[in-house]
Amino acid sequence: MSPVPTTQLTSALDWRYATKQFDPAKKIPGDTWAALEHALVSAPSSFGLQPWKFFVVTNPEVKAKLRPVSWNQPQVTDCSHHVVFAVRKGVNEAHVDRFLARQMALRGDTPESLAGYRGMMVGFVNNLSASGQIDTWATKQIYVALGQFMAAAALLGVDACPMEGINPAAYDDILGLTGTEFASVVACSAGYRAATDKYATAKKVRFPVSDVVAHV
Ligand SMILES: Cc1cc2nc3c(=O)[nH]c(=O)nc-3n(C[C@H](O)[C@H](O)[C@H](O)COP(=O)(O)O)c2cc1C
Repeated sequence: MSPVPTTQLTSALDWRYATKQFDPAKKIPGDTWAALEHALVSAPSSFGLQPWKFFVVTNPEVKAKLRPVSWNQPQVTDCSHHVVFAVRKGVNEAHVDRFLARQMALRGDTPESLAGYRGMMVGFVNNLSASGQIDTWATKQIYVALGQFMAAAALLGVDACPMEGINPAAYDDILGLTGTEFASVVACSAGYRAATDKYATAKKVRFPVSDVVAHV
């Protein structure tokens, strides 16, 4: 890995904005999308438990159904890929074991070598379940993946609009998630900005660095 120059990172971050108008004619090429999908799948999570699933909507009919339950935001239908970030509800011991089975397959670890780690994770998820916080914990993990996705998109010159202005229950119905182990949390439209989107050139509104960063 060769690091990108700092100016390349800062210019990508400054170029990024929450896109209000996408050019519906411009689609994300397959290789670019594959890299963005990698950004989703490789996102870090607490204990690496990945309590999520990403639903990628490119079908115009599905997008058309999602738009009215997304505050009618045009990005949903005009973007190239509309990603729905769903949480895995009720993460439990069985999920920990699914994760550890994957680790054993990929790293050659043994159940014995992972027994202590397993005990720690099972205790962690059981405590969160007992206090009714397990889905809240899982939901926080989703936002890590969202952040990584948006930063990756910016570096690839892909525009994005994160979207909490959605009706998650209606999304679940449309995507067939109701009654499953997954529930929609947040979405992100991705594609290419329309030349007419005035927000592209609007000054970023951020508090001064000294207000939000403290060196202690
Ligand atoms: C979690 C989250 C949810 C958001 N939901 C919406 C949304 O539903 N619609 C929208 O147009 N922008 C949405 N935004 C974009 C923010 O309004 C935007 O990031 C913020 O105003 C800063 O502007 P900038 O991203 O263009 O720098 C959301 C941003 C985040 C991080």
